Amino acid sequence: MYQPVRVPVRKRSCLEPWVIGLITFISLIVLAVCIGLIVHYVRYNTRKPYNYYSTLSFTSDKYYYEFDKEATTNFTEMSQRIESMVKNAFAQSSLRRQFIKSQVIKYSPQESGVVAHMLMIFRFPSTQSPESIKKTIEHVLHEKLQHATGPPKVDPSSVVITNINKTETDNFLKNCCGTRIGTSSGTSERIIGGQAVEQEGEWPWQASLQWDGAHRCGATLINATWLVTAAHCFRNYKDPSRWTASFGVTVNPPKERRRFKRIIVHENYEYPSHEYDIAVVELSRPVTYTNVVRRVCLPDASYKIAPGSQAYVTGFGALKNDGTSVNRLQQVEVRIIDSKTCNEPQVYNNAISPGMLCAGYLQGGKDACQGDSGGPLVSSNSRDIWYLFGIVSWGDECAEPNKPGVYTRVTAFRDWIEAKTGV
Ligand code: ARG
Repeated sequence: MYQPVRVPVRKRSCLEPWVIGLITFISLIVLAVCIGLIVHYVRYNTRKPYNYYSTLSFTSDKYYYEFDKEATTNFTEMSQRIESMVKNAFAQSSLRRQFIKSQVIKYSPQESGVVAHMLMIFRFPSTQSPESIKKTIEHVLHEKLQHATGPPKVDPSSVVITNINKTETDNFLKNCCGTRIGTSSGTSERIIGGQAVEQEGEWPWQASLQWDGAHRCGATLINATWLVTAAHCFRNYKDPSRWTASFGVTVNPPKERRRFKRIIVHENYEYPSHEYDIAVVELSRPVTYTNVVRRVCLPDASYKIAPGSQAYVTGFGALKNDGTSVNRLQQVEVRIIDSKTCNEPQVYNNAISPGMLCAGYLQGGKDACQGDSGGPLVSSNSRDIWYLFGIVSWGDECAEPNKPGVYTRVTAFRDWIEAKTGV
């Protein structure tokens, strides 16, 4: 009888062709996506800064002279408005991811209005030509600024752009007050409870005042020839010829050194009172602004810094009460304390006058100390421009609870500074 031979059906171990096809397809897609991501990542992270100088005409209810003076409230408000118009223009354009920032650096008068001069920074893959980018930028501004809502009333057709290099950009910035290059990463903790400054240029207005070559006080550069400091630094040390000022993050070696031409102590300063603890020093010859030596901005007399604001105090002073000065600049973050709180019985019991400003922490721990006197207490505004609000003046020991640092209130002496120095 015929019996079919049962050939065992060999199960095919190979996959169906369509499965192989699918797997190949998916692999290719994954690969393509990976390559795409890598290319994008590399392009994005190897983008180079492209700098431009731009002018823009506008009219407003204010006259040119009202923002003629750099760093004044008027100057800042107008600059903020223009910078945000420019920012919005780029945000609505194809350059939204390439635009980094714009900064108004000055104003100049025009027959019927004012011209704002600004720097603009972009990031592009290094394959692009600055000239072609310039055309795109110009086009975006001409187009989008038409929809900008004022005041001020800007004239989009007035926009002129020139392409500048990194050095030219730095040259414009170093002549502006309150700009700094190296902002260290990480939190700034450590004078007392602060930290050593990492790189040159972080606090470019800081000076060290030395009597016969030894550090005695801090000071702040407000223009190329004038420093602001504390009056008490000169109590027993009046002879300008024995003083020098140095700049840079180390006392030795300094980046720059100058002799004193003149010391002007506030007429009303009288030891041992802490009132009117302010002096200005004229240098023998002007310093040259660099990336590491620059001037700070001074706030308008009417400006009120809000209690709780973040501020920084810097100096070469002691790291503990009755300690010695240090060679490397230290910085510490402090908060502005309102005078009412600072005058409470357990704090300074009404010793804080309108010419003084308290900053630090009621719980203690972070403060300026001996040797920091005369040095800067600074705070930055929303445009990232730094202003001098206080001059290290006095305190009950250092960093003790309920004994925050007391500073000379710069706004209270703004007019005095101008009268003496023209700044
Ligand atoms: N008078 C001190 C000096 O000559 C500065 C003291 C600051 N003290 C303070 N706790 N914040 O250096």
